[in-house]
Amino acid sequence: MRQQISRPSDQGKGQASDGEQGRSDDQELDKTPPLTSAPPHSLASPRRTSSSAAAKLILCGEHAVVYGRPAIALPLADIRAHVDIDDGSSGSGISVHARDLRRHWRVGDDPHGPISQLITSVLSYLQDQSIPAPDLGLTVSSTIPIASGMGSGAAVATAIVRALAAHLGQELTSAEISTLVYASEQRFHGTPSGIDNTVIAYEQPIWFQRTDDGRQTTDDESADPSSVLRPPSPLIEPIEIASPFTLLIGETGVRSATRLPVGEVRRRWQADPARYEALFDQIGAVVTQARMVLKQGDLPALGSLLSQNHTLLQQIGVSSPQLDALVGAAQAAGALGAKLSGAGWGGVMLALVAPDTRARVAAALSQAGAKRVSETEVNLSRPAPANS
Ligand code: MEV
Repeated sequence: MRQQISRPSDQGKGQASDGEQGRSDDQELDKTPPLTSAPPHSLASPRRTSSSAAAKLILCGEHAVVYGRPAIALPLADIRAHVDIDDGSSGSGISVHARDLRRHWRVGDDPHGPISQLITSVLSYLQDQSIPAPDLGLTVSSTIPIASGMGSGAAVATAIVRALAAHLGQELTSAEISTLVYASEQRFHGTPSGIDNTVIAYEQPIWFQRTDDGRQTTDDESADPSSVLRPPSPLIEPIEIASPFTLLIGETGVRSATRLPVGEVRRRWQADPARYEALFDQIGAVVTQARMVLKQGDLPALGSLLSQNHTLLQQIGVSSPQLDALVGAAQAAGALGAKLSGAGWGGVMLALVAPDTRARVAAALSQAGAKRVSETEVNLSRPAPANS
């Protein structure tokens, strides 16, 4: 459909897809080991390839990041989407079994579905057009709650891209994976900033900022098609985290498709650009300060910035009574700070907790209606160098 991505080798020099996903820091970020296990090729026996991808959490800056302000995102390594690929019998085509959705289909019978389109575009990226499509069975499963702000769609797409590449014996860089998943994100919600596919593909805490201003949308017919087909060359940097910290994640249990609040924010921004630009600026300032205090290890300051970010998200109109109840309960129980995370109107919130308040805040979240409370430790001081 919309997305046409060609391999760097197919492109003119200087137009490589790596360059579209980031700048020099990509090289540093791109040292993530591939999360795949592929047995050696064998002509005799059918092969199975397995791959996975992490969930994500936006620490701060969501929504404003669509409009060119920075945001900070974290991977959640313990919560993952998994994909197994088995060789199919000759002529069987490509079939997908999405276990959690209880759906099973053949790509040829549902060519316009987002997962079918992703598979088709990844295969055309990986293989010469003259080679017939392979016969494959994909099985997708995930422990990431759907439509919860934790990047379930981008994680499933990333695991599919990784598994297809590994099954065909090819290696893709994180930048290439991110670019392919970005196309899939566009099919789901039109105006993604690119932060979800980036943090999941690189699987590292990142500072992310678009370098266009987010004004173009894929549903804007007047937009220059060549610029909407590719992610707009964001700035992607690793972030320094001086002190490990603990986040509690409270789930409202309310599903909310990202494109709905994102679309509503766009309508409001179009109706009153001055007000929304000012709110986005304030969020951008909070994110810039958050990066500084993360580097200094000042967790109380980080907590206060997260709570400020929540207030600004309320003003943008993407919170909900359930999210506000959980954020308020966490703050009242002694969290250093709390906010909704992701697109809002449902999904999850996060609370920054110290060791002595962790249990109290978790109990308060459950009492305030959280359907599930989980915990994540963020302790990367700096991404590990390659192969160390
Ligand atoms: C969704 O995880 C984050 C949003 O800012 C949308 C986007 O950046 O694409 C709400």
